[in-house]
Amino acid sequence: MPKWVAPGRVNIIGEHTDYNDGFVLPIALSLVVECAAEVRRDGLVRVTSRQRPGEVVLVKPGDLGAERDRLPPWARYPLGVVSEFVRHGYPVAGVDLELDGAVPIGAGLSSSAALSCAVAVALRELFAPSVTDRELIDIARTAENDYAGVPTGVLDQSASILCREGHALFLDVRDFRNAASRGGGYEQIPFDLNRFGVELLVIDTGQPHELVDSGYATRRAECEAAAAELGVSALRDVDSIAALDRITDPVLRHRARHVVTENARVLAVAEKLRTGADPRGIGPILTAAHESLCADFAVSTPALDAAVTAALATGAHGARMVGGGFGGSVIALVDRDDTATVAEAVRNRFARSGFDAPRTFVVLPGAGAHRLD
Ligand code: GLA
Repeated sequence: MPKWVAPGRVNIIGEHTDYNDGFVLPIALSLVVECAAEVRRDGLVRVTSRQRPGEVVLVKPGDLGAERDRLPPWARYPLGVVSEFVRHGYPVAGVDLELDGAVPIGAGLSSSAALSCAVAVALRELFAPSVTDRELIDIARTAENDYAGVPTGVLDQSASILCREGHALFLDVRDFRNAASRGGGYEQIPFDLNRFGVELLVIDTGQPHELVDSGYATRRAECEAAAAELGVSALRDVDSIAALDRITDPVLRHRARHVVTENARVLAVAEKLRTGADPRGIGPILTAAHESLCADFAVSTPALDAAVTAALATGAHGARMVGGGFGGSVIALVDRDDTATVAEAVRNRFARSGFDAPRTFVVLPGAGAHRLD
């Protein structure tokens, strides 16, 4: 059976900016979800997953709307994508989808986008080759939001589809939406850590994500309220901190300050990387992003903070939590020779604080979704 893969992502910088029409700068991971797919003659969609041995979901494409609530939650991601292709009017016939995921779940590394995007690229090639990357990102995102019922912005699916090996993806979310027909709104920026002897260490706290959905929805609502009070369509339109004084509620002012300063940090990091400068120079900006996510946006946790503090104390050039927050992972920019020491220091720190042992691994900018030959 032919196979397609789609990666998880690490966002270098630009957290909680995507749904504010702002900027993000992710890389794709080499950790992927694999989707083997083949047309079936009986018109049914059959989904299995290596991580769900023994479970087989079989459904008619036309029944996907009515069947949604009866499906196991994991199957709503792949079937949501099928449902979106159908809703867009593409001729999805029967298909076998065999899934196998290697992106850690709940680690803030977008395992769900990797899953949706792997299915999306497979279905595009089998049934709808004219679908553009932009439309495919919309399909994967709507499947996650509406069918799987998980609120996300557009960062994760864009990273999974558009990222390129050896590059960070600079995405201007507003421009990407408006420039869809022209194919603009993003830029591939070379991100070569190896040449400079540095590595990106991921520290997965393994912390449960129970609060994610409610906390995430609250933050989005707070950002919308702040934008409304300022009379702008999105916080992207605010370019000075002084303008935030007009927000009366101090909580909303803090939330907005994170978004405004974070957008500026994405632009600063993108600019440094564009010049081909030593990536160590972006370290302090990453750390500033963590402080902002912690103090202004209030989405960090004691374990995430402990990982950042321990990494910085052992020589990391910068460190911050990644993804939506309330658990998940930290990235630390470290000299290659120090990686093992930093990982060890974080493990010791976690043990002393009574946190579960973290999982640590090094990542390189990988390729976006594609077919395996
Ligand atoms: C989650 C969402 C993304 C983005 C990040 C925060 O990962 O899925 O769209 O909003 O949180 O940057």
